[in-house]
Amino acid sequence: MSRSIKKAVFPVAGLGSRFLPATKAQPKEMLPIVDKPLIQYAVEEAVEAGITEMIFITGRNKRAIEDHFDKAYELEAELESAGKQQLLELVRSVIPKNVNCMYIRQPMALGLGHAVLCAKPIVGDDAFAVLLADDFMQGELNGPGVMAQMTTTFAREQSSLLGVQDVPRAHTKQYGIVSTEPFAERLEKVGAIVEKPAPEHAPSTLAVVGRYVLTPRIFSCLEKIGKGAGGEIQLTDGIEALMQYETVLAYRYQGRRFDCGSKLGYLQASVEIGLQHAETGAAFADWLGQRG
Ligand code: UTP
Repeated sequence: MSRSIKKAVFPVAGLGSRFLPATKAQPKEMLPIVDKPLIQYAVEEAVEAGITEMIFITGRNKRAIEDHFDKAYELEAELESAGKQQLLELVRSVIPKNVNCMYIRQPMALGLGHAVLCAKPIVGDDAFAVLLADDFMQGELNGPGVMAQMTTTFAREQSSLLGVQDVPRAHTKQYGIVSTEPFAERLEKVGAIVEKPAPEHAPSTLAVVGRYVLTPRIFSCLEKIGKGAGGEIQLTDGIEALMQYETVLAYRYQGRRFDCGSKLGYLQASVEIGLQHAETGAAFADWLGQRG
């Protein structure tokens, strides 16, 4: 097993029902924050972490993602002949040259655990990252991105890592929740993990967010577990099984997260990134200010 993480899995086969009708014919991961789709931000976060092999677990209506990371011959030819050099560079720079994109189809949305298991034939015996693009993450100003923080931590600890943050107790039903013991700075050893517990049953308020680094043993664990909460094969249950063999660590990431699978989180991310945007930020701030 290599010490550094070179492969990332992007499960993008969910139904996106919280964002209907926008997600009726297009994946929610293609929703833009200002001018870039969510999935591109997640891929950029992985590239920054030194990852070169991007594995997308796709489903129905996900063609747009493959097209987005593919060469766009007609568009490039038209931009070139119109002399629109800047736009041409923008289109070409969507994916760096040393990065490979691979696609595996998840035949039915059987759950996040099942989606991750679909990556087994490509991931093989390597530890790998999982990024849920609808969790939009921003590292601290001038600091490393969240996945870069996690791959650096993995290189040192060689244990599976779950990105975590504290959430209000009333929100535990939306997350996998872990109970932990202190381990090291920003790291805690996971003792138990529960999928979407009611606030009164949650063992803590430490929630797992959409960033993971997992050892390949997760695959045999996912193969063994059956359907869990909601009749789906849950990644949470696979991680619980993994904990019987290996240490699993919770990593308190540095940065901010926007839940772009929800309408409110998506709107908040759009405002924040709109304000930071080089082209629109100042004018947008003026406009927001005038609205009072
Ligand atoms: P969500 O729980 O956000 O589900 O999945 P969803 O279907 O995408 O959205 P809602 O809740 O219906 O609005 C978490 C992540 O796991 C992926 C999703 O694409 C998302 O990135 N996923 C989920 C799969 O790839 N396959 C599945 O079978 C389920």
